Order: sequence, then structure tokens, then C-alpha cells
Amino acid sequence: MVRVTVCVGSACHLKGSSEVIRILQDLIANYGLEDQVSLEGSFCQEHCTEGVVVHVDGELITGVRRDQVFQLFQEKILRRCQL
Ligand code: FES
Repeated sequence: MVRVTVCVGSACHLKGSSEVIRILQDLIANYGLEDQVSLEGSFCQEHCTEGVVVHVDGELITGVRRDQVFQLFQEKILRRCQL
């Protein structure tokens, strides 16, 4: 199981974390990966100036904007899944 967390603390929320989560949810569903990827919100990860903050299996990824989510999905999530 690939574990993805998206910070939903106030700074990341203001930078669009809910949109990042929504896009990730859609991608996970479109690729049929619901049983391989867990997606959760997390509290502040103490990188507030670098939001949106995402962790994939513990790997820290900062500065995620909505237009980068698909690339993050491809490079960090999809390659960890069995297709
Ligand atoms: S609010 Fe996301 S790291 Fe602090």
C-alpha cells in the first residue's frame, strides 16, 4: 500500500491542499488504485512556508501546486503501484 498524506494545516489549506487532495482522489479513482493507495489529510508538518506539503511513503515533497499534482502522481505514486 502506498501511503500518501497531504497537509491540511491552515498554511497548506490556504495554498490549495484541498484541491490537491481532490485531484489525487480523482487520479486514484481513474487509475483504479483505491486498493493500492491510501490518501489521508495530515496536521501541520512544520514546513508551512513550503506548502502544499505531501508525503509519499514518508518521502517529503514540498511546494506542490495544483498544476504539479499529475506529475507528482506519475513520478511518486504510480511507479510504486502494480499496474
Ligand atoms: S500547514 Fe502544512 S506544513 Fe504547516
